[in-house]
Amino acid sequence: MSKIFVDACFGKETPYTPVWMMRQAGRYLPEYMEVRAKAGNFLNLCHDPKKACEVTLQPVDIVGVDAAILFSDILVIPDEMGMELSFVKGEGPKFSDPIRNEADLERLIGGEEAASKLTYVYDTIKLIKEQLAEDKALIGFTGAPWTLATYMIEGEGTKTYNICKKMMYSNPELLHKILAKVTEVVKLYMEKQIQSGIDVVQIFDSWAAAIEPSKYDEFSWKYMVEIAEYLKEKYPHIPVIMFPKGIPAFLDKVYGNFDVFGVDWSTPMAYAKEKLGDRYVLQGNMEPCRLYSKESTTECVEALQKIMGGKRHIFNLGHGILPDVPVENAKHFINECHRVSGK
Ligand code: CP3
Repeated sequence: MSKIFVDACFGKETPYTPVWMMRQAGRYLPEYMEVRAKAGNFLNLCHDPKKACEVTLQPVDIVGVDAAILFSDILVIPDEMGMELSFVKGEGPKFSDPIRNEADLERLIGGEEAASKLTYVYDTIKLIKEQLAEDKALIGFTGAPWTLATYMIEGEGTKTYNICKKMMYSNPELLHKILAKVTEVVKLYMEKQIQSGIDVVQIFDSWAAAIEPSKYDEFSWKYMVEIAEYLKEKYPHIPVIMFPKGIPAFLDKVYGNFDVFGVDWSTPMAYAKEKLGDRYVLQGNMEPCRLYSKESTTECVEALQKIMGGKRHIFNLGHGILPDVPVENAKHFINECHRVSGK
């Protein structure tokens, strides 16, 4: 059976415009909180294919999205490259021994060895594929090398990126070596996700906006394109979605062989359509906080439908859903996307 979501990623005409939500499998769902409480902590949940499968499928059943996104985290990659990941309550992710010099880089596990340690992810994908309805797609994902490197170098989330940026401007060779090593792992990791059964790839560059526009290609985009083109060459039937968050000034320079450009909420959809709509299918881009109000949600969905006209478009939020959004409002968003596009 052909999947509407996959057809839409390739720009084919579909009976309606499919929709999913970034961070749809997570804390706004009471059913998720229940499974997570049983797992003990978040990383245990990522490491347990049965439970990770269960929470991946929840938003499909509960809110009615057209695609599931694999439940995992971008940070399992550096974790398996030998950096010890922990999630500190109230503070987010932490790595105890960040990468700051050549010796640190040397101790990172690379390539096939790192990619083959992520077996719990591949097992989760296989389980999901057994249970996901035929007409729904499964999205696999990775962080972009830059976004992963920010955590690996800073050791945690950051507001200023000062340690990475010091490296960017005073020792760019080292930053490039780190990015290249991560890129090699990500290529093999995504390839193994495809071999395990994902239908679509999304590359999240959540911290793209930390890089000045004239340096964005050099330190992030070119590595994302390298990954996308490696996958497209070997697996042309698998669509690739690129999501660089917050880079409207770079839209003029976007290049590469991939299928869908994820538009974040700070970039006007009409502007993205003008710059990229002929070359890429566009995904997005409701401001996630509109989910707090059903009226604001409807207003935005109707405006997006007017701009895109149901062509070469996938509905989504322009970044992740927040934990305190009422489930009923998330359902309203999905229903409205389906209603305006004729489902
Ligand atoms: O539906 C989905 O998208 C679920 C799968 C998923 C998670 N993280 C689960 C998660 C995905 C695709 C991610 C990606 C991710 N992780 C990104 C890129 C996407 C984005 O939103 O920008 C980033 C930057 C991370 C790193 C990360 N993971 C942080 C900073 C945090 C802690 C901050 C927070 O939101 O609490 C996480 C933890 C995390 N990843 C949670 C979930 C559901 C919350 C853990 C919990 O408390 O249950």
